[in-house]
Amino acid sequence: MRILIVGGGGREHALAWRLTQEGHEIAGAPGNPGVGQLGPLFENVSDALRGFEPELVVIGPEDPLIGGMADELRQRGIPTFGPGGMGARLEASKAWSKKMMEEAGVPTAAATIHTDYQEACEEVAKRFASGRHVAIKASGAALGKGVILCGDELHARHALSRMLLDEEFGDAGRLVVVEDFLEGREFSILTVVSEQGLLSLPVAQDYKRVGDGDTGENTGGMGTYSPVPWVTAEMVEETEARIVRPIVDHLRAKGVPYSGVLFSGVMVVDGSPYCLEYNVRFGDPETQSVMRRVEGVGDLLWAAAQGEALPPVRVTEPAAVTVVAASAGYPATSQKGVPITLGEMPEGVVVFHAGTAMQDGQLVTNGGRVLAVSAVADDLEQARARAYAGMDQVAFAGKHFRSDIGH
Ligand SMILES: Nc1ncnc2c1ncn2[C@@H]1O[C@H](COP(=O)(O)OP(=O)(O)O)[C@@H](O)[C@H]1O
Ligand SMILES: [Mg+2]
Repeated sequence: MRILIVGGGGREHALAWRLTQEGHEIAGAPGNPGVGQLGPLFENVSDALRGFEPELVVIGPEDPLIGGMADELRQRGIPTFGPGGMGARLEASKAWSKKMMEEAGVPTAAATIHTDYQEACEEVAKRFASGRHVAIKASGAALGKGVILCGDELHARHALSRMLLDEEFGDAGRLVVVEDFLEGREFSILTVVSEQGLLSLPVAQDYKRVGDGDTGENTGGMGTYSPVPWVTAEMVEETEARIVRPIVDHLRAKGVPYSGVLFSGVMVVDGSPYCLEYNVRFGDPETQSVMRRVEGVGDLLWAAAQGEALPPVRVTEPAAVTVVAASAGYPATSQKGVPITLGEMPEGVVVFHAGTAMQDGQLVTNGGRVLAVSAVADDLEQARARAYAGMDQVAFAGKHFRSDIGH
C-alpha cells in the first residue's frame, strides 16, 4: 500500500519505519531526514496527494486533525486515518472533553468550568475547605503547559489569575477547568478506533520531566518503555470498558463518529482507572516504543480508515526502551544547526529523528527533542542496555538525555 504520513516528528518516523518494515511504501509531508531515508518527502499535503497518490493518509499531529484535515480528505474520497475536527475536540477543548466524559459516565475527577475569575476563586475555596486539592487546566491547547497542580488556595488563585485575568495562556486560558486533584499512578493507552470496534496497543510508559528521578521541567517526553508490568491485562480491559468504549459510543450517539487513535491518559486511584484526558493522536514518544514491538500496523490503520473490523496486531518483540536525546537548553530553549554524528548502532537499535534537518549534506539539530534511540530485546533490562549503548553513538554539542528510562 502507498501510505502518506502527515507530520514530521519522532512519532511519524516511527510509523513510517513500522510501515516500511511491513512492506508498504511511504511518503512524508513534511517528514524529516529520518522519514526521508524511507520514502519521498513533500512540502505539503496537496503536493503529496498529486505526486505520490497515496491509497491511505495517516495524520500524525493534533493540529491538522483539530483543523479538520481528516474531514477534508475523506470528502475527497481519500481513505484517511484520524478523527474529524468534531471528534478532535476531545483534545482541543478540555472543557468540552470533560462534558463528554460526564455525559458518557466515564470516571474522571469532579470538575467545574469557569470564565469568571471571582466565581472560579469561590469554587476553589470550597474545594480546599472540604480538604481537596485542585488541578487547574486551561481548556485550550497550551503546549503541555496548561495544567497547574495546586496544593494550597493561594497557589490556585494565582493560577486562575494567570489564566483568566492576565491572559498569560491567551485564548487557551479564557476557559478554565477546575478539578479535584487525584492521587495515584498514571499510565496512558493508545486505542485504535473504527466504526466496527476497538483495539488497544501494548502500553508504554512515558517520562515527562527533563531530569533523572522525575526532576526539573516538564517536556514533551524524554523517553518510554514497553511493556509496563504493573498495568495488567485486566486493567487494560477495565480501561477500555469504562474510559474508551463509553466515550466512543457516546460520541457516535451524538452524531460524531470517531475513528483513528484515541489516547487515554489514566490515573489509577484505589485500584480503579480515572480518565485525566483524551488526546486524538498517537503519543510521542510512546509510539516509538510501541511501533518497535508490533506488526500488522498497516492493515490495522487501513481497516480503521475504512470503518471495518480491526485485525489484531502481532506483538513480536517482548520489550522496547526509547531514550530521547535533547538539545542544549531544552525544554526552555533549543539550539538549531548543531552538527550531529551517528556511529554504528548496536543490534536491535533504531534511531528515530524528531528535531533534525539536513544542512549542506550534514545532519544538524533543528529542535528541542532531536532524536530518539529505540531498542528492542527479550526483556526490558537488555533493551535498556542496548538503548544506552546506542545513545553513546550519538554525538552533538549540548546533547542531554535521561539516564533512568525503563529503570
Ligand atoms: N485531576 C488531576 N489530579 C492529579 N494530577 C493531574 C490531574 N489532572 C492532570 N494531572 C497531572 O497533570 C498532567 C497533565 O494533565 P493533562 O490533563 O494530561 O493535560 P496535558 O497533557 O494537556 O498537559 C497529567 O499527566 C497528570 O500528571
Ligand atoms: Mg497529558
